[in-house]
Amino acid sequence: MKILVINGPNINMLGIREPNIYGSQSYCELLRLLNLWAQELDIELEHFQSNHEGTIVDKIQSAYGHFDGIVINPAAYTHTSIAMLDALKAVALPAVEVHISDVSAREAFRQISYAGQACIRTIMGQGLDGYHQALIYLKSYLERQ
Ligand code: DQA
Repeated sequence: MKILVINGPNINMLGIREPNIYGSQSYCELLRLLNLWAQELDIELEHFQSNHEGTIVDKIQSAYGHFDGIVINPAAYTHTSIAMLDALKAVALPAVEVHISDVSAREAFRQISYAGQACIRTIMGQGLDGYHQALIYLKSYLERQ
């Protein structure tokens, strides 16, 4: 089972950016955890991070035919990017949306998720463990297919 984990803009700044919201663990630590969880769950995992919308669209498109599912934290593009929504719909791979913070309790402009409309589930407000929960959910979803 091959899962692609995509992180959007500023997720590479974890540990530095607004630690009161996103915690003190770094992006490097997130990658270490992702690899650990993938091993435990017997998942082949690739991770990708970009600050550029089009680059993320390209990556979603490239998943077609190569991955079984996607875990995505589109970060700020969550709330703006119809292009990412369309790319997720185009490849039609099961995708789980993750947000480290509880976006539902934040600013009004964070209340819309475009990408989330193409996802089978959204996990928010669980810190980095949200990615773990997303992998578990996606794995069991794929096994049921
Ligand atoms: C985020 C929430 C977004 O609103 C924000 O723009 C981010 C991170 C999260 O993981 O909580 O960059 O996706």
